[in-house]
Amino acid sequence: MRNRLIPVVILVLVLMPLWLSTSVLAGKTRALGLPPVPIPSDNPQNAAKIALGMKLFMDKRFSADSTVSCATCHDPKRAFTDGLPIAEGIKKKKGTRNSPTVINAAYYTSQFWDGRAPSLEEQAKGPFVNPVEHGLKDFSPILQVIKRDPKYSSLFKKAFGIDADRIGIEHVVKAIASFERTIVSGDSPFDRYMYGGEKGAMSEAAIRGLKLYRTKARCQDCHPIGQTSAIFTDNKFHNLGVGFSVIEPRLMEIVEKVKKAKEKGLKLDETILQKQDISELGRFVVTLNIEDIGRFKTPTLRNVAVTGPYMHDGSVETLEDVIELYNQGGEDNPMLDSGIRPLELTEQEKADLVEFLKALTSPEYAGLLKDKK
Ligand code: HEC
Ligand code: HEC
Repeated sequence: MRNRLIPVVILVLVLMPLWLSTSVLAGKTRALGLPPVPIPSDNPQNAAKIALGMKLFMDKRFSADSTVSCATCHDPKRAFTDGLPIAEGIKKKKGTRNSPTVINAAYYTSQFWDGRAPSLEEQAKGPFVNPVEHGLKDFSPILQVIKRDPKYSSLFKKAFGIDADRIGIEHVVKAIASFERTIVSGDSPFDRYMYGGEKGAMSEAAIRGLKLYRTKARCQDCHPIGQTSAIFTDNKFHNLGVGFSVIEPRLMEIVEKVKKAKEKGLKLDETILQKQDISELGRFVVTLNIEDIGRFKTPTLRNVAVTGPYMHDGSVETLEDVIELYNQGGEDNPMLDSGIRPLELTEQEKADLVEFLKALTSPEYAGLLKDKK
């Protein structure tokens, strides 16, 4: 009997990874609590493309002094962030914004804090040629490195079926985006509690925090939790007043400056990451709609306990400080979102909300949570 089971066990062991990888490829990695990953029809997933994308994401040769890769600021060991308030690129050059995590970015309908990139593919073009990130003049050095490296030639052939001389930046960013679409993560204590029927998966404090989150604290309005899954973002833009004091005294002057500069073909990526005042205009720089001044994209809250410091400018250090900010009704300013107002939370309620946010940590990143304590 036992002997007859052995081949079955072996078969299962062999087939299991295959099944897992094909379901990953089809975008069906159904981590508990996550909806299917949206895959664009012009960039289907395949295993070679994902492997290629990972290699490109880590490659420091695609920067002016070979010191910076995507992973410099989106470090897999730090939950795909850098732990800094403001990102630092080549020669420690500082930008204006905090590096968001890449985990679950696949669920955003637009990329960057102001949503100026419509897709992960378009987003990936920005950092290479940004003077404060990878610092390249144009994409040609990337394509040169790739065409001279036989490993890349064979990977591009497998991923896209093309020869080295036909590789373009479009292929590079498609591979990176495919890799990013595999960096999704659910299965947190919250997911097991909410969607897995495991009533003991969250602490009593976190359960109280969840209730507050959906009622008195109003977090649910912008960071929604669905019936069968939760991505914790409405994919919209709101003004909480963070960083607004930087622009308030000269607001109209800066607004006029941006309008004129845009008419003349202002380079968005470069300007936003080098000019603090323009950065603080947020969504406005993309749309030029007055009501978008100081609005930023609602970030996901998954793994938020291990991706600090917080907000587009990295100005809020801890989750306790975040809750304090919401409790006082954001930073007062003329464009403040109507959904932001003082909450009058008790000390116990504030602590419960923090416990709930910690329960959104996926098992892959739970080690980082322990490091913090
Ligand atoms: C110098 C640090 C740095 C490097 C290098 C870097 N990034 Fe980023 N990344 C950032 C910052 C800062 C932002 C936010 C910028 C903004 O919103 O204007 C960002 C935003 C993003 C986003 C959008 C996420 C969201 O929440 O909207 C993605 C995806 C991303 N980066 C991927 C990449 C990829 C791919 C590369 C390599 C090609 C890369 N990054 C290189 C710092 C960096
Ligand atoms: C009106 C919409 C809105 C409401 C209500 C709201 N948020 Fe946010 N949240 C946002 C936006 C927009 C940002 C980014 C703002 C910025 O960077 O300037 C944000 C940022 C955050 C961050 C920082 C995440 C990061 O990666 O930097 C945390 C944590 C957070 N919110 C938690 C909460 C909690 C907890 C509540 C309820 C007490 C709440 N939010 C209510 C829209 C909202």
